[in-house]
Amino acid sequence: MKIAVIGTGYVGLVTGTCFAETGNKVVCVDIDQAKVNKLSGGQITIYEPGLEKLFLRNIKEERLRFTTDLASVVDEVEMIFLALPTPPGADGAADLKYVLGVAEELGKLLTSYKVIVNKSTVPVGTADKVRAAIAKNYQGDFDVVSNPEFLREGVAVDDFMKPDRVVIGANSERARKLMSELYAPFLRQGNPILFMDERSSELTKYAANSFLAMKISFMNEIAQLCERMGADVDMVRRGIGSDERIGKRFLFSGIGYGGSCFPKDVQALIQSADAINYDFKILKAVEKVNASQKVHLVEKIKAHYKGDLKGKRFALWGMAFKPNTDDIREAPALSIINALLKEGATVCAYDPEAMLNVKHQLGNSIDFATSQYSALEGADALLIATEWSEFRTPDFEHMATLLPSKLIFDGRNLFEGAKMKQLGYQYFSIGRTTELT
Ligand SMILES: NC(=O)c1ccc[n+]([C@@H]2O[C@H](COP(=O)([O-])OP(=O)(O)OC[C@H]3O[C@@H](n4cnc5c(N)ncnc54)[C@H](O)[C@@H]3O)[C@@H](O)[C@H]2O)c1
Repeated sequence: MKIAVIGTGYVGLVTGTCFAETGNKVVCVDIDQAKVNKLSGGQITIYEPGLEKLFLRNIKEERLRFTTDLASVVDEVEMIFLALPTPPGADGAADLKYVLGVAEELGKLLTSYKVIVNKSTVPVGTADKVRAAIAKNYQGDFDVVSNPEFLREGVAVDDFMKPDRVVIGANSERARKLMSELYAPFLRQGNPILFMDERSSELTKYAANSFLAMKISFMNEIAQLCERMGADVDMVRRGIGSDERIGKRFLFSGIGYGGSCFPKDVQALIQSADAINYDFKILKAVEKVNASQKVHLVEKIKAHYKGDLKGKRFALWGMAFKPNTDDIREAPALSIINALLKEGATVCAYDPEAMLNVKHQLGNSIDFATSQYSALEGADALLIATEWSEFRTPDFEHMATLLPSKLIFDGRNLFEGAKMKQLGYQYFSIGRTTELT
């Protein structure tokens, strides 16, 4: 099939590349000329494991190309995917200006039947708005389909190539057929393609992310209880996770959820509910818990230093909102850095992939180390904010030579308390009793 993907960020680039990988001819469109230049020159713009190899292969095979010129591609494709930003507006609702702006533009460009597929995360009713925006300038035949994306950054290629399910909200048989054909190669293992109406499909995406955010906030509250009651959240997690009704995944406590999706999607669903006078009580609590959990580690640090962090220097391992990505949008590490700087402390940070993005955002307000170990030089304590694999089994002896205080505040529970005690480290983590022993 011939496909256009509009918006070439984390979702668009993975979507375009993976569709090309199954033999489709894909053209990715973005308004960011610098990004398009880089991509056209074979330079990948995001860190996503496994993506670069597919990206380069499909460019070489001439199945994948990049342009800023939307007008030049519309006629040659059958399907147009929207992978555009839907950031929170001032009131927390998803801002549809990018999606509807492109829809209106498409209305001026369409000359024959196309399927316009919305992959952006959008509030219920957006398919109707997209349809109306296109119809302002185009009276011919077209279909609008909702196809929410469930990929996880860090494992996005795997998620896209072998999705647990594909959700399609479509009210036209013609569009459903095209979507089935397109996705068939990705569902060979038997995972389902779920057809539904557009509104249910749009809500499914928000329900999924909000449910996952709720699991995280729930476990973070259990962690708070553990710290106060002398229980160990890892034990509780294992204890409940083996119950099939609960499941083992997404039960890790830490320093709160971040990233480009959970915070904005939870906020947007709360706002959508408020707009129809429904008070989404659980989700409001989920958000509140997350806000306090993001600074919980800083509270522990302050308690340790009796409230005075002035002049203290902290090594920080990990700034990406989760491992295996360079994405720092809403990363808990950034809240921690801000809180520490406000208290008069300094920070020397290291992240395997996210340093450039943090440098763009924070400039020289913090120092950047060239390795996880060099970050420790001259530091009073080590903080861990992202669970990159390489942080899991560090050389503790070498660390002790660089960090004589042997003091660690771990927001991701990477190490066993008993082992740290044995090694002579003072070790603070989340929802465990290590600091009590
Ligand atoms: N990032 C994720 O893990 C993820 C997962 C599932 C769903 N989503 C949803 O997918 C959507 C896109 O997210 P993302 O993380 O890829 O965003 P992103 O910010 O990484 O990428 C968006 C891209 O769209 C481009 N763009 C903006 N306006 C444009 C226009 N008029 N024409 C062409 N290009 C334009 C931007 O330059 C940018 O490259 C959002 O709705 C998000 O909620 C994201």
